[in-house]
Amino acid sequence: MDQIPLPSLPQLLNVARDTAVSAGQLAREKWYAPRDVQSKGFRDLVTDVDVAAQKMIVTGILQAFPDHGFLPEEEDDSLPQAGPIIWIIDPIDGTTNYSRQQPNFAISVAATRPIFDAQQNITAYEPLAGVVYDPMRHELFSAMKGEGARLEDGSGHRHTLKVSTVDNLQNAVLCLSLGSSELRRQQAQKWLHAFNEDIFTVRSIGSATLSLVWVAAGRFDIYFNQNIKAWDVAAGALILQEAGGEFSNLAGDGFAWLSPQAECVATNGRIHTTTLQILNDHKI
Ligand code: IPD
Ligand code: CA
Repeated sequence: MDQIPLPSLPQLLNVARDTAVSAGQLAREKWYAPRDVQSKGFRDLVTDVDVAAQKMIVTGILQAFPDHGFLPEEEDDSLPQAGPIIWIIDPIDGTTNYSRQQPNFAISVAATRPIFDAQQNITAYEPLAGVVYDPMRHELFSAMKGEGARLEDGSGHRHTLKVSTVDNLQNAVLCLSLGSSELRRQQAQKWLHAFNEDIFTVRSIGSATLSLVWVAAGRFDIYFNQNIKAWDVAAGALILQEAGGEFSNLAGDGFAWLSPQAECVATNGRIHTTTLQILNDHKI
């Protein structure tokens, strides 16, 4: 059988963009409607809109690329897992915020290339094109590998995304997540204490993907989280790196794509080494 040629990066990005914007419209339309909120794990929620938004995104992608695979946040056994491109999707990143009408959430859609070991098992994903859409602010963050990162605002104006030039902690704005388990919360507090003396100020916005693209846009200088899954970061990490930032694990190596609880450290690059040093010096 003839192989279907791989789509170009702009083709992938267009589909990511269209599907993320449609899902964002849905999230906006449902903003004042009562939410159906269910627990799907320890301090882990899902709403009816998460599920509906994911369906919408997946349907749009399958219409364009019927041979592609999926790694979505909300479990769906009917979806193909394998394919030349794997779409990693978080239909609503920041579900706790969304469930309480707090506007810090975003839709994350990334087209990735699976990377295999000798036994043909997937070991990682390489993001090729990705979009993070913040529907409440009408901000669309996007990137293609090797092509830089952009922000399209609500009036359709395009801005090149560039990380901040802050090169010391005294001027840095740090964003973090406390995590959900007792141990992770203790660790986060220890880290917070370690940065406390030097850092300009601290925020926590409850959406990993939005935090990453806000580092990409120079709104934050540092973000870290100990409890990350592939769909929280697949688009955001690419956008950050294409904006000149750095994205790694605590050791400064690549992100653990297959881990259900990976660490991520994201910075503007200039203060990455300092950040890693402090985090590693204050591990529980
Ligand atoms: C969560 C959010 C949160 C982060 C968690 C994520 P969800 O994603 O991004 O900010 O701290 O680690 O799992 O569940 O809202 O999609
Ligand atoms: Ca989610």
